[in-house]
Amino acid sequence: MRVLLTGGSGLLALNWACAIRDSHEVLLATHRRRADLAGTRSVELALEPLDTLTSALQRLAPDLVIHTAGLTSVDECERDPERSTHVNAALARNVALAAAAAGARLVHISTDHLFAGTRAFYTEAAQPEPLNAYARSKLLAEQWVAQVHPDALIVRTNFFGWGHAHRQSFSDWLYYGLDEGRELTLFDDAWFTPIHADTLAHACHALVDTGASGIYNVVGDERVSKYAFGAKLADTCGFSGALLLHGKIAAARLSAARPPDMSLDNSKARARLGTAFGSVADFLSLLQQQHRAGRREELRAAITG
Ligand SMILES: NC(=O)c1ccc[n+]([C@@H]2O[C@H](COP(=O)([O-])OP(=O)(O)OC[C@H]3O[C@@H](n4cnc5c(N)ncnc54)[C@H](OP(=O)(O)O)[C@@H]3O)[C@@H](O)[C@H]2O)c1
Repeated sequence: MRVLLTGGSGLLALNWACAIRDSHEVLLATHRRRADLAGTRSVELALEPLDTLTSALQRLAPDLVIHTAGLTSVDECERDPERSTHVNAALARNVALAAAAAGARLVHISTDHLFAGTRAFYTEAAQPEPLNAYARSKLLAEQWVAQVHPDALIVRTNFFGWGHAHRQSFSDWLYYGLDEGRELTLFDDAWFTPIHADTLAHACHALVDTGASGIYNVVGDERVSKYAFGAKLADTCGFSGALLLHGKIAAARLSAARPPDMSLDNSKARARLGTAFGSVADFLSLLQQQHRAGRREELRAAITG
């Protein structure tokens, strides 16, 4: 299959490309930054105007488009809600329209950030209650994508993996901070269900293979606090947990309101695939294996500009 990933210089796209490059032809579609990753081809792709994007996708002829591009800083979205709506929702609609016109399947990457976060394990049927501009733009994106590409698979998630100089993941922030001996404050009242980026990629391809469409939560099986995640990472990577300090999201002065509980229920995806996705310990052990195999260095060298 020829798979085109938008946001080709981003955290998710690079890890996704590594996860599938041995079994698929991978096109990394980039914006400002270039990507140079073995086993993949990098193409500059403007997501607007729509007619230019549509012709480009027809020429590139992907079987499957994975839309990961977006404005992912919650604070930046809050400062500029119009840009957030444009990049996260209007460009997602362009990608969905162009993918449909090119006869390509589409996986649209959404978020676990859509809810008020007052309870645990939101299902796909739960009513979204976006608290900030990022969440509003991602919710609008889901609605527009579903309208113009009804077969699209819309994936709500929260992932981690090795990043690069311009894009640190949550696990990078912890790893590099602990490695430098810095004290890190982590919320023990903020919850999520993280998944490793490679596991996410494989699960999404498996869902596409079953013909799944509509909204699916593709997250890890375990709900943990940010603090507990940090403690598990410190333990797995051999760092001192004493550097981790307890913080409270309830007391934090954040420029954009954030849901305290972002955990999602993944039972719909698990039932469709007949398999569990894994625990935090499983994903951290994969992160360590990748470190030993050179993934961290490879991704750090992959992005230039
Ligand atoms: N990180 C998480 O844990 C998390 C959690 C839930 C959901 N998500 C969702 O997952 C997706 C991927 O996130 P990520 O963390 O991999 O993102 P990221 O590392 O911030 O990368 C974003 C990508 O989007 C590209 N981009 C930005 N503006 C663009 C534009 N106007 N036109 C074309 N491309 C543009 C960027 O390219 P340039 O740098 O060249 O501009 C970059 O390659 C996003 O949709 C995000 O909302 C992420």
